[in-house]
Amino acid sequence: MLRRLLDFFEKSGTVDNNSREKYQKTTFARGLFVSIRYLLVVLVFCLGTWTVSSPAHAAVNQYVRRYLDVAEPVAIAVDGKGETKQFDGEDLSVGQNLFSKNCQRCHVGGSNLIDPTVSLSLEKLANATPPRDNLNGLVAFMRQPMTYDGQDESFWCREVPESWIPQEEIEKLAAFVIRAAQKGPGWGTEDLF
Ligand code: HEC
Repeated sequence: MLRRLLDFFEKSGTVDNNSREKYQKTTFARGLFVSIRYLLVVLVFCLGTWTVSSPAHAAVNQYVRRYLDVAEPVAIAVDGKGETKQFDGEDLSVGQNLFSKNCQRCHVGGSNLIDPTVSLSLEKLANATPPRDNLNGLVAFMRQPMTYDGQDESFWCREVPESWIPQEEIEKLAAFVIRAAQKGPGWGTEDLF
């Protein structure tokens, strides 16, 4: 009799334990569910703010933002006589994209793979005849590439006619080259190999 009674209590104890375990499991699951829900809400909120705030930055290339100091629009010399024109990070990114597509294969990092002595460093651009470290000079060069001393047409560099890259765009390309020559770490190195 006593044995049975003990058995009975033991069993009900077990049952009790089981149900407590089940209860704990459900509260744990519910807690997990609630925290996942909170996590999702936070995630959706963050994603929302990220997508809303990103377009302003999206158009600025990483290189431009990191190295070319474009928190404010920058002034680029137009003619070497004091006149300047403003370009912002987006303009310079348009310029960089054009450069990557059309010029990089010969001028990676502002160098010159074909004739390393005529790199796109600031010093080289400034000492060319006529100087190419301003918008007008550089655009004129791209429209009709000349030798370094300005005496002859150069058939090495890529000529860029207006019908291909119109004025507004080519100025952004020129502004990118000039700004990169001023600020880009290692831009225009002649130590290629
Ligand atoms: C096929 C290779 C090639 C391509 C593509 C090319 N260039 Fe050149 N570039 C050269 C060579 C070679 C020279 C040197 C020419 C010379 O002095 O006769 C040069 C010279 C230059 C110079 C003069 C540098 C100085 O110090 O005066 C500039 C600026 C320049 N290139 C810009 C560009 C831009 C911008 C593009 C893209 C639109 C471009 N190049 C595409 C080969 C190239």
